[in-house]
Amino acid sequence: MVLAATGDRLPEVVYWGAPLPAEADLATLHAAAAIDVTGGMLDENPDLSLSPEAVRTFPGQPGLILRDEGGTPLLPKFRYASEDAADGLSLTYADAENGLRLTFRFRPDPSTRIVEAKTVLEADRPVHLHWLAAPVLPAPQQSDEMIDVSGRWVGEFQLNRTAWSPGMRYRENRTGRTGHEHFPGLLVPLRGATNTQGECYGFHYGWSGGHKMIAEELPDGRRQIQWGHAARMETKPGTRFESATLYVTYSQYGLNGCAVAFQRHVRDRIVTWPKGAAHPRPVHYNCWEAVYFDHKLPVLKDIAERAADLGAERFVLDDGWFGQRDDDTRSLSDWEVDPRKYPDGLGPLIDHVHGLGMTFGLWFEPEMINPDSDIHRAHPDWALGGEDQTLGRQQKALNMALPEVRDFIYDRMAAILSRHAIDYVKWDHNRVLPMPDADQTRGSYALIDRLRTDFPQVEIESCASGGGRIDFGILKRTQRVWLSDSNDALERLRIQHDGALWLPLAVTGSHVGPRRCHTSGRVLDIAFRAWVAAQRHMGFEMDPRELDDREARVLRDVAAWWKANRDWMTSADIHRLDSADPAVLAEQQQARDGSRFVCFAGKAATSAQIAPRPLRLTALEADATYRIELVNRADAPALSRGMPLLKDGPVELSGTWLMQHGLVLPWSFPETMWVVEGRRL
Ligand code: GLA
Repeated sequence: MVLAATGDRLPEVVYWGAPLPAEADLATLHAAAAIDVTGGMLDENPDLSLSPEAVRTFPGQPGLILRDEGGTPLLPKFRYASEDAADGLSLTYADAENGLRLTFRFRPDPSTRIVEAKTVLEADRPVHLHWLAAPVLPAPQQSDEMIDVSGRWVGEFQLNRTAWSPGMRYRENRTGRTGHEHFPGLLVPLRGATNTQGECYGFHYGWSGGHKMIAEELPDGRRQIQWGHAARMETKPGTRFESATLYVTYSQYGLNGCAVAFQRHVRDRIVTWPKGAAHPRPVHYNCWEAVYFDHKLPVLKDIAERAADLGAERFVLDDGWFGQRDDDTRSLSDWEVDPRKYPDGLGPLIDHVHGLGMTFGLWFEPEMINPDSDIHRAHPDWALGGEDQTLGRQQKALNMALPEVRDFIYDRMAAILSRHAIDYVKWDHNRVLPMPDADQTRGSYALIDRLRTDFPQVEIESCASGGGRIDFGILKRTQRVWLSDSNDALERLRIQHDGALWLPLAVTGSHVGPRRCHTSGRVLDIAFRAWVAAQRHMGFEMDPRELDDREARVLRDVAAWWKANRDWMTSADIHRLDSADPAVLAEQQQARDGSRFVCFAGKAATSAQIAPRPLRLTALEADATYRIELVNRADAPALSRGMPLLKDGPVELSGTWLMQHGLVLPWSFPETMWVVEGRRL
């Protein structure tokens, strides 16, 4: 990435892409990047700078919009002030007339290939901020379309392809929460790029309060990408504002180059692991879809025994243990154990779980309050938003900007966490906010940070009706995301495939659900459900009492397989494969040193053609030989009547063959998964 400035004006990114020769003359590059002018234009093209300035006749959206305290719009014009290369690169520009300073920070990470970037605005007098973009970057000209992300409850991570055209693609999330609908990510592939080849640019804005993204093509053809908090989210005048961190990367290895960079950065740089990154991720059991709010100690103990027998290592007690929480209409914020359900507190259940060799996790929804709760009756003013607001799941959000609210929740949670050996909190956030407000997000972050400081052994899972709060800002404070409330393996296969563009296995929760899925009504075989969960951080979430002997055996076997492989899989890269058959969603999880991989080929639908199309692998050494084994070849149905080599046992093949011809898998039913292990010899 080459930054260049004309005189003391704000710098522009004049090059971003494949590494240039180290001796490249940067002044020449700057001059060589300038585009021509013709009729009907200004005599010089306004800079597409790190914060395009309206006052310089920039023909698109400016990077900064603000007013003075009295409401008069300011049109700042910045000039070079100072720089600092101590930690990455920090460039400060000043507007003396308006008493403003703008600092751009870049921190490149050569090992993950991510650049972290952030903009800071400081003012001598309080100003109202409308819009502050993180460092603004150019988008490539050789790109025909961009890929951004939308979604919904039980349908997260839906990729949208939008063609570039003059004007903007404007995504703005005004819900106050990252949201299922607005995952803050963008990929800009160059023409012809696929998962495994071609060039691609990747972006992610690490903020949990709702973002705004602008991808704009200017009249002169140049393109800019802007990211920041949703506009007007700063509700009070101030003298210092920051964007969140923008994470960007460039890939010469297709979309996967971006995906792998994000995965590694999340796992190795963003998440902090209480027991270190190498500590095995435990197999979870979560009781939500087994009992919902109906907590009975003997039943939960029985379920815990069965879960442990299946291979679970952590038991998570979900919603329903506190206040008078018999359904979702009451008690949020009354974080005290319900004595009707637990007359002797949580101790007996926790002891039982520990006795089975599992650790114990507990559900909270800390930012929320039901009007029908003791706390709301005592402090109605603690709730955010008007009295006549529309509730969401019968609840309001608490005003997290109030220190007394944060203290109260902290005290209630700390009382439970200090009384019991709890190593995990499932932290939910089931409604959107009445209005976007950056103070709310900062308040949530402060509460989580305080709890993490005082209870450093506790891991946190970010859940929000499934994947409604997934972003790198929350992942700085948590270790897992509940990707979706959909435990339907068919839906999960797709959501995981697309989520992997930003998320590694290590943080992505995936559970084996009930035989008949509670959110889709679909009935799927246990082997498919188990293998889809084994693609990520594995867990179970059905009532284990419904399992027949075969189902229990399959679950036990797949969980054992997962445990035997999790050490290397947790630090592996997930490569999405370019499947020749649209019915097959496939990925290759590959150890960092390339010595082994596992390939999951999920058949999401019936294929149009008769025989499976060979599946090309990726990122192997062309000349190396690999020992390939179809792990679950015993699952081949009777209708697979031939004898493709992999059905017979392990095979040795070259990297070139595997990447150019591809694996020939046996014929299979839809809604099944082939699992192929490979080792470099
Ligand atoms: C949300 C979560 C679920 C479960 C319920 C409990 O919907 O996504 O997994 O925890 O809350 O009320």
